Amino acid sequence: MKRIGHRGAKGHEPENTIISFQKAINLNVDGIELDVHLSSDDQIMVIHDETIDRTTNGKGFVKNFTSSQLKELEIPTLTEVLDLVHRSCFVNIELKGIGTAKPVVDLISDYILKKNWEYIDFLVSSFDWKMLEEVQLLQPKIRIGVLTEASVEEALAFAKKIKAFSIHPNFRLLTKENVALMQENGFEVFTWTVNSTDDIQKIKSFKVSGIISDFPDRI
Ligand code: G3P
Ligand code: CA
Repeated sequence: MKRIGHRGAKGHEPENTIISFQKAINLNVDGIELDVHLSSDDQIMVIHDETIDRTTNGKGFVKNFTSSQLKELEIPTLTEVLDLVHRSCFVNIELKGIGTAKPVVDLISDYILKKNWEYIDFLVSSFDWKMLEEVQLLQPKIRIGVLTEASVEEALAFAKKIKAFSIHPNFRLLTKENVALMQENGFEVFTWTVNSTDDIQKIKSFKVSGIISDFPDRI
């Protein structure tokens, strides 16, 4: 079972920062999860919200700032995070911002062609299933994770349709039976965001493929 650090190691360090990803790596995670939006100069920035208000001292939409302005606020680019990771674990890139599918596919292709990364080093997920379809069309070799906080059944049907690699349901949607059903259909099950030791124990007993947690050291 894979241990995946949510937004790095959000329980220990500020989310989606270099310090947080370094902490997750130090905890020997199998993977890190992160969120992406585009800057005004079309760089892929690692930040959860569409605005910088909650996580920085600034105010406004990510898309209205240049990458250098955002970097000054400790928001890393995806390139900076990948170079830090240096293939020490896989990277689950969650597409949040509009228009992130193609730039992310292009960046992944670049790392595979020029930097000796492999497809197994990446996993692209999103709640926006249209963007996942776009990824699948652009490069079918990229592993896709179907995110849902609503319905395991619908996610399973869509995962079959686009030949996804994994299904990523909120952990509250899981039962032992539906985990087995997704796996019998050939999909890995990565669930989120499981933080308390009680919840982690319960979810582990369902034999999921991986747990995404703010505290990957508790898994
Ligand atoms: O990818 C799992 C999880 O991060 C999805 O929800 O809101 O934390 O991005 P959220
Ligand atoms: Ca996320």
